[in-house]
Amino acid sequence: MIKELIFASRNQGKIAEITQMLAPLGITVKSALELNLPDVEETGTTFAENSLLKSQTIAKAQGIPCIADDSGLCVDALNGAPGVYSARYAPNRDFDKGMDKLLKEMSEIENCDRSAHFSCVVSLSWPNGNYELFEGRVDGKIAEQKMSGDEGFGYDPLFIPKGYTQSFAQMSHDEKNKISHRGRAMAKFKAYIESL
Ligand code: IMP
Repeated sequence: MIKELIFASRNQGKIAEITQMLAPLGITVKSALELNLPDVEETGTTFAENSLLKSQTIAKAQGIPCIADDSGLCVDALNGAPGVYSARYAPNRDFDKGMDKLLKEMSEIENCDRSAHFSCVVSLSWPNGNYELFEGRVDGKIAEQKMSGDEGFGYDPLFIPKGYTQSFAQMSHDEKNKISHRGRAMAKFKAYIESL
């Protein structure tokens, strides 16, 4: 049974989500931020590749199982962009500017299809190199303008999940976790841990 995990992220929003999800399993999560670990360069071209790069590098270096995720927003009208480049797409990682850039690009497309999805690949790596992958996806659309609320991070104010009228930024953590790409990948991860 795993008692302690490193979460390979420095993103406060994600750390809060993952810590909340793993607490009921009795797993202590230490983040790369807390441990002050250097960033692992995301040189892959798929979510799975980048996720594994992060979890394998840290698990081997620290000798503790490591969980990593790689995720992003894929917009149909932009042929899946920004996708694996979602973080880098935002100028200086300023997501307010990143959302403006996305809205501008979409406004230049005639009869723009606003369909989009978030994808996430969670990887769990052991120090000996073994690993497991868990995938999650949520379909939806890009709002005409930012729909900001009290919650959320990244592109949340622009993403309206299918079947809803609110953006991710207008939902509580719990509501978002139930249907989000990361929530779905993590539900598979949780089921796997419980089956050990
Ligand atoms: P990475 O997975 O750390 O490489 O970052 C992916 C980027 O995709 C994040 O920095 C966010 O901009 C975006 N992203 C991933 N998941 C979400 C989400 O749940 N809400 C909003 N933006 C997200």
